[in-house]
Amino acid sequence: KRRTAEPYKIKSVETLSMLSYDERHESLARAGYNTFLIDSDDVYIDLLTDSGTTAMSDAQWGALMTGDEAYAGSKSWKRLEQAVKDVYGYNYVLPTHQGRGAENILSQLKIKDGDYVPGNMYFTTTRAHQEMNGATFVDIIIDEAHDPSIDLPFKGNVDLKKLQALIDKVGAEKIPYVCLAVTVNLAGGQPVSMRNMKDVYELCQSYSIDVMFDATRCVENAYFIKDREEGYANQTVAAILKEMLSYSDGCTMSGKKDCLVNIGGFLAMNDEDLYIRSRELVVVYEGMPSYGGMSGRDMEAMAIGIREAVDDHYIEHRIAQVRHLGQQLLDAGIPIVKPIGGHAVFLDARAFLPHLSQEEFPAQSLAAALYLDSGVRSMERGIISAGRDIKTGEHNRPNLELVRLTIPRRVYTNNHMDVVVDSILALYEKRDWISGLKMVYEPPTLRFFNARFEPL
Ligand code: F0G
Repeated sequence: KRRTAEPYKIKSVETLSMLSYDERHESLARAGYNTFLIDSDDVYIDLLTDSGTTAMSDAQWGALMTGDEAYAGSKSWKRLEQAVKDVYGYNYVLPTHQGRGAENILSQLKIKDGDYVPGNMYFTTTRAHQEMNGATFVDIIIDEAHDPSIDLPFKGNVDLKKLQALIDKVGAEKIPYVCLAVTVNLAGGQPVSMRNMKDVYELCQSYSIDVMFDATRCVENAYFIKDREEGYANQTVAAILKEMLSYSDGCTMSGKKDCLVNIGGFLAMNDEDLYIRSRELVVVYEGMPSYGGMSGRDMEAMAIGIREAVDDHYIEHRIAQVRHLGQQLLDAGIPIVKPIGGHAVFLDARAFLPHLSQEEFPAQSLAAALYLDSGVRSMERGIISAGRDIKTGEHNRPNLELVRLTIPRRVYTNNHMDVVVDSILALYEKRDWISGLKMVYEPPTLRFFNARFEPL
């Protein structure tokens, strides 16, 4: 098979810092063994997140100069609004400072105390907003999504029986909307099939329940449909995306991922009444509905990024780069979540470090060990990220105890991916020597961001 390369060339470069082992050791201890707390200046290859870490194109950088910074009626907002309408196809759009800004507004307006919000696995901020507004999150993803070893093309799918069972149990009037993530971040960046989106939408329509997408990585999901679902191979990603979103009533969007920008987001919907009520809350929390927490230049960059993201060459390479990393790990027998997802490769820390119990935080420990070995920064997505049960105060105990190697968009080359592979292979050789951690500081909410640890 012929090899392919990045569908772009490099115009500006950023020098990476390369610390010694001793310096990394010091930095890690200073950070309380939490990769979130390591100074970015001490990181060589930063795979903490794909959020806001995108490299912008020359067209985006050029457009910054044309940003209209008017407090009201900015023409940059008009351009962003038009881009969302053209590419996503919703009737109404409101700007927010990032994804969670949209989640806040949607949750406040739709959720009543005692409601249930079903979703295909939780996301941290999304669930936090649902719970803060009095809802109980209910996981309706297929069982297989909780098993890292099962290889399925659409492992982000909803189990319709679980959704039906919830409707039967609590009643449709207690379910303000279904939150459907496309792709599913914490399941390993796994996509949802078009068939499943359609089925969920039809079932919900029959009960007058709205379907709101978490569209954060929707372009990646669209590519997987093109690649894996029958009947889509010859369609453009842009056309597939439009069809996907037609099976929803609206979405929350973190622009920091599939809109190819460093900050921004939006809330979109087809219902005029929800739009009008949302606009009132945008004014309270985000700013005027013509900027919503973004500067004019941010909105210009996002308007362009939204269109660049649905370029078939861009998205094909994006997914291929994640696969370039993951496939080498698979070939070497490293336990990772299967299949390889859209934005990240997830190490299965339970299988990598079988000698550690979940209370010894295997994923947190592995992320710390990886940084120490090579300066590669990753993120825990296991028991620490899952937090505590709001009723019992016990740890939530997710089946998945993962280390996420998240690939920023258009930032690193495949050579960087190879360096990451080498480090992980070296760690796997000496895995028996990797010890666990104990938590010495635990924040009350979203604890993973600021928790501190010490080696056991
Ligand atoms: N939904 C999903 C699926 C996400 O992955 C994120 C952010 C959000 C919503 C919230 O968006 O950060 O713009 O407020 N995920 C980042 C990550 C933080 O690293 O996975 P935001």
